[in-house]
Amino acid sequence: MSAQSQPQFPPVDLAATEAILARYAAEPKHLISVLQDLQLHYRYLPREALERVGAALGVPLAKVYGVATFYKAFSLTPRGEKILRVCTGTACHIRGAPLILSELQSRLKIAAGETTPDLRFSLEAVNCVGACALAPVVMENDTAHGNLSVTKVRRLVRSGAAGSRGRGSAELPRPDDSPAKKAEESEES
Ligand code: FES
Repeated sequence: MSAQSQPQFPPVDLAATEAILARYAAEPKHLISVLQDLQLHYRYLPREALERVGAALGVPLAKVYGVATFYKAFSLTPRGEKILRVCTGTACHIRGAPLILSELQSRLKIAAGETTPDLRFSLEAVNCVGACALAPVVMENDTAHGNLSVTKVRRLVRSGAAGSRGRGSAELPRPDDSPAKKAEESEES
């Protein structure tokens, strides 16, 4: 990560952690659900919050970190308000994904896997997101922006990617691969 792209760790308001913990019984089985809520609130899992959660649920800190680092949905570093996932699957690659990724890296001044210092954007290169007909595709959080060109990507960044769905954009159904769902399924089986 370049020095310029080091995101600031925002101050951690542990009142939010307490409010989340209050929604669940103090039992280890709620760890993943609590971590999901924390990730949603802070957009990452702050160390202070993880320590508090471990103590509250009676889960050793090493295990809390084990779960927090196992699932891709969790991040131990601050992530951007907008997470831009550039699909680099075959269809998108053929239709210009490398150019799209390069343009985003240049515009945001970060590499894939990094977050802008103002915590506005995170940039990721990902495998097929299941919208090949719209290739090349960039996911902005849960919204797919398709049929992208370098010009459209510039517009996407300029507009802050907020509420800027153009033609070829669509809300994709979320694959039900949440950590809690997986944990529930493995408990049932
Ligand atoms: S290869 Fe990009 S959506 Fe399938």
